[in-house]
This record gives sequence, structure tokens and C-alpha cells, in this order.
Amino acid sequence: MSESLSRRTFLGAAAAAAATTALPADALGAAIEAPGVFRRRAARFTAISSANGIRGVQRAVELMQKGSDTLDAGVEGVKIQELDPNDNSVGYGGLPNEEGVVQLDASCMHGPTKRAGAVAALEGIKTPSEVARLVLKYTNHILLVGLGAKRFAMSYGFKDEDLLTPQSREIWLRWRANRGHEDDWVDVLDTEQMVVRPTGTINLNTINDKGEISSITTTSGLAFKIPGRAGDSPIVGAGQYTDNAIGAAGSTGLGEANIMVCGGFLTVEHMRQGMRPTDACLATLKRVVALTPPRLLDPQGKPKFQLTFYAINKLGEYGSAAIYAGTYAVHDGTEAKIRDSAVLFPK
Ligand code: GLY
Repeated sequence: MSESLSRRTFLGAAAAAAATTALPADALGAAIEAPGVFRRRAARFTAISSANGIRGVQRAVELMQKGSDTLDAGVEGVKIQELDPNDNSVGYGGLPNEEGVVQLDASCMHGPTKRAGAVAALEGIKTPSEVARLVLKYTNHILLVGLGAKRFAMSYGFKDEDLLTPQSREIWLRWRANRGHEDDWVDVLDTEQMVVRPTGTINLNTINDKGEISSITTTSGLAFKIPGRAGDSPIVGAGQYTDNAIGAAGSTGLGEANIMVCGGFLTVEHMRQGMRPTDACLATLKRVVALTPPRLLDPQGKPKFQLTFYAINKLGEYGSAAIYAGTYAVHDGTEAKIRDSAVLFPK
């Protein structure tokens, strides 16, 4: 189900854009937003995402170049991963909770209209990004969860489907079989490798030639989580955040660590104070480490988890930083490429 942001409530976007141009201007004619001062940006379409979004940034920029709204383009970009059965971190084929049920989270923000939508613990619907956008577009709410979110989605014609693939079911069964000696499951042989609990996600942020910005994050969350657990992805201000005057930011990795610092919001606030995107992401990661409880730190004081932030500012400048080495995807209007994130703790 594909939706366009052309509904009447979104006619306000044009008015909002006009209001932006009415702000005071610097010598180059660009809007001045206190306290950050931005120069005129090159008229470029740009999308930045987690590395699994390499096809998504390509799609998002292509759509924006054809006139698509920044959020519509971002949703189409992340849907590629949601519908890909081989991406075990998102949508269809995402790894399930401890009971073998796939529960999906997503949130989005549309800068020009200052609106947000999100869903958490959504079952049976392959593309939570689209449902989050429907919450944004058709309701006065921001976050719908569980059965309510599912019924809301089905009222728009989404089908209730089994989201486990044979591969993701096999991974879950293997995890369940080697959980430990203190539960009722029969262990696999000690010689067999334990299943690592991945935290995959896709975050994608977009800006068009008018400086309109959107962000979206979608995930199946922490693999084998306790049923009902929601991570950072559906939390506006944590998993993603957009302020159309400043920029957008989002994350992948251990959601609980991000929720503690409201990392999407904090990264945008760092940019508001004048930091460039990569520095803003690094500053947020430092706050994450400062707020990490000892049980999640190794003896050197380094986190036992990975977390990555991705950011874009009003100029179309972009950057990413991770606790440990990692990569991200970006399309700067000319080509899509994978780049290295800045690293807080190089190994
Ligand atoms: N960042 C995805 C999650 O923790 O659910």
C-alpha cells in the first residue's frame, strides 16, 4: 500500500515552507535559525541511512528528483528492506521475539508539516513504515501499539501475514535450543556456536532541493526480545527526529542505550548548536557512554553493544558515527555509496 503525502492536511507543507523563507536572511540570502546559522545550501537531493539502506537511499533520491515528498521517498526507500526476506533486522523475515512472534516498530517525522507517527509491537504487517506514516497523516495521535496498531493498519487494507520466513524461523529455533541450562529447553551440543542476538534496523533521512527534511526508522527490534518490548525505533526523539529548520538524525543498534539519551533529538540539538553532523553524532555517543550502566560496560569502560547515529543538516551535509567501526549508506544527489562511520572507540 503506497500513500502520497498529498492529502489535504498536508497542503500546510507549502505554507510552512513559505513561512521559512520569511525568516531573517544572512548575506547569502539563507534563512537564519537561532542559534544555528546556515549558509545557502546547494540544491541537492540527499539521503543518508544505515548501510543496509544502500538500495533505499538510491530509491529515495530517485523519487525526490521526480518530485516525491521527502517522507514518501524515505518510506519507499526503507520498504525495500522491510519487504526483503533476507534482511533479518526489519519487516518480513525480521527475527522474532522469544515466543517466535515477529513484532515490528517504526516511526517517522515530516519536517515541513511538523508531524510524527509511530507504531510499536505491530504483528502481521510487513511494512510498519507505511503504518507509521498513516498514523502521522490521518490521526491526532503519534504512537499506536500492539493490537490497536494492527487493527488500525488492517482498516487501511493491510493484510495480516506470517512474517516468519523459513530462515528466520530456523534462526529462532536454534536460539531457543541453546538458551541455557536453567530453562526447560534441551541444549544443543556445546560444540555448536551460540546464536548472537542481533539488533538490526534501518534509519533513513532525506532532504530535497527546497530544504525539506524527513526521517524514518523501522525495525524488527532486538532479536528474541521479551514480547511487547519496544526499542528506540518507534520513539520519536530517540530512533529518529527531524526539525525542518535544523536537520534530522536517527540510529541503529541497541535501542535501550539510545532511549536513555533521546539520541535522535539530542543529535539534532547538537547541530542546532552549530556542530556538523558527524561531530553531532559523536557528541551523542559520548552521552550514551556516560549514561551506560556498569553491567553493560567492559572492564575498560567501553560499551558491550554497538550503536550508530546518522545525521543530515539543513545544508545537506551528512555524517555518521558509531561506538565501534561500521559503515553507512549515502546518496548525495550524484551516486549512492557506502562510507565509513566515524568511530568513538577504534579497536
Ligand atoms: N534499534 C533497534 C532496537 O533496539 O530495537
